[in-house]
Amino acid sequence: MIRLNEPAPDFAASSTHGPLQLSDFRGRWLLLFSHPADFTPVCTSEFVAFARRHAEFESLGCALVGLSVDSLYSHIAWTRSIEQVFGVTIPFPIIDDLSMQISSLYGMIQPAESHTSAIRAAFFIDPEGLLRALVYYPPSAGRSIEELLRLVQALQAGDREDAATPEGWQPGDSLVLPAPKTTQAAQERVLTAKNQGLECLDWYYCRKTAAGPTKKAAA
Ligand code: BEZ
Repeated sequence: MIRLNEPAPDFAASSTHGPLQLSDFRGRWLLLFSHPADFTPVCTSEFVAFARRHAEFESLGCALVGLSVDSLYSHIAWTRSIEQVFGVTIPFPIIDDLSMQISSLYGMIQPAESHTSAIRAAFFIDPEGLLRALVYYPPSAGRSIEELLRLVQALQAGDREDAATPEGWQPGDSLVLPAPKTTQAAQERVLTAKNQGLECLDWYYCRKTAAGPTKKAAA
């Protein structure tokens, strides 16, 4: 079973950009995502959006890698069609997982949904190779690439600020500190909040202004 904060399982694969392996991405963030099938409308809409936001993922130091159980020839034909129809070049590699080895390893094959294709899964792997977030969507619901981009930024801001991101957080917004776990720590939080530049609504809800990239710089 694939779990958060554990090393993402290693793999070697062929792709539309040639052979690749997970360890190639050490030192960078990686968003590894699967789609059910080439030449399907929802997947096509996601790929067009991924391609359009690719430079923003790159600016965050986050590589994109797609995967489905289709062949390389199918991937090539599909991306050529996307280029012709939508005027968009797919700039990231797509793995051909015909053997379903990687998709099975990562829990992308969910038999009650389909035995023969991957669900829409997305794995956020940090520069140390740890799985930091995963999202599973059914074939019938397209993902928001905007939200996937926001999640990379939230994970990075949380690491940078040693804090957490509240609901709907956007780059430049305040983060929140984990709640104190003892009565003494709660008392200390209240007494030292101002000196630490925290804005506390109560002992368990303290905001910290992000020192990292502002909304503008991140946009
Ligand atoms: C689609 O991408 O359009 C799709 C793929 C699999 C099932 C349903 C829709």
